[in-house]
Amino acid sequence: MKDFKNLEPKDNFYQTSLFFPMPVVLVGTLTENGKTTFGPYSLLAPFWVAGKECYTMILECRNSSNTAQNIIRTGKCSLNFLPDDKKYFKQEVKMGWPGDKPEEKMKDFPLTMEDGLRKEEDPNGIYPQILAESFQVVECTWLKGLDGADQDSVPLEEGKDHYERASYHNFNGITSPYGAHFVLRIDKILMKPKYWNTIVNGVTASGFPRVPTDFGYRDSKNFWYSRFKKPHGELLPQRQTTISSVRYAADRLQTDVKFTDDALEKLVRVPRIFLPTVLKGCVKWAEENNIKVITAKEMDIINDKRSKEKSKK
Ligand SMILES: Cc1cc2nc3c(=O)[nH]c(=O)nc-3n(C[C@H](O)[C@H](O)[C@H](O)COP(=O)(O)O)c2cc1C
Repeated sequence: MKDFKNLEPKDNFYQTSLFFPMPVVLVGTLTENGKTTFGPYSLLAPFWVAGKECYTMILECRNSSNTAQNIIRTGKCSLNFLPDDKKYFKQEVKMGWPGDKPEEKMKDFPLTMEDGLRKEEDPNGIYPQILAESFQVVECTWLKGLDGADQDSVPLEEGKDHYERASYHNFNGITSPYGAHFVLRIDKILMKPKYWNTIVNGVTASGFPRVPTDFGYRDSKNFWYSRFKKPHGELLPQRQTTISSVRYAADRLQTDVKFTDDALEKLVRVPRIFLPTVLKGCVKWAEENNIKVITAKEMDIINDKRSKEKSKK
């Protein structure tokens, strides 16, 4: 403690009071005439990551921005992750000036706009376009029903730069006079083939995209960001249990499904705390597939979360 100084958190604490690493994303949304406009955003994080009915991200945004107003009106956006390149970051910062109208900001826009997968699957629908230069894109729909946001999420009145309400939402919709949060359902993830291959077929240091890190607007002058550096993998020390202790846990399940030793051997590295859940997941899969005995072969099928993608190759 003696090596630290106390620092009061101030508004926008992530950039006024911390060094907080963030992504840089150009958020594509639809204007009133159905054209796509882009705004740069960093306060964007995975929100529901497992165990819910879908996956979501959360976006924190000035509520008078084109992006917030367009999401309130149409509920759709594309999250475009551009690789680290000074010319891209320059463009992103240029698009961050508050108050510019979409026609002004999109004039001479140098990046390549194209339709995403949502549009391909629903040619009559209108969806924000995506940027071809991105290494990954997430197509999203705002979950307007959460936190009662559907009750009062209406566009700002003409000439107003913020909302005046008796109360504000906690985590979705208009959350303060100038702020908004949007819980965004992940509809599609579009990945460039090289990085798709890294995710589906195995990670290597050279298989990562060049991801930039934003540190926000700091000296009332600059947006600070750091360049991509090749990642380094740090091995997780594996703690191994024995087949007999996995067998002990398996024998306690209420089921007729049996496990062979070579199947259980594949679970000796699973932390003990997760074993009952993992075993129950295997049994559920076996019951759904009418299998009475789980061998190593069935375990491989269960473990291969990416098998569908691999067969699509
Ligand atoms: C790299 C970068 C990151 C930004 N991140 C955010 C953010 O997370 N939330 C926010 O409200 N504004 C953020 N801004 C400021 C917005 O980009 C700015 O309000 C801009 O006017 C929004 O554009 P839009 O009105 O077209 O949506 C960021 C700006 C830059 C350059």
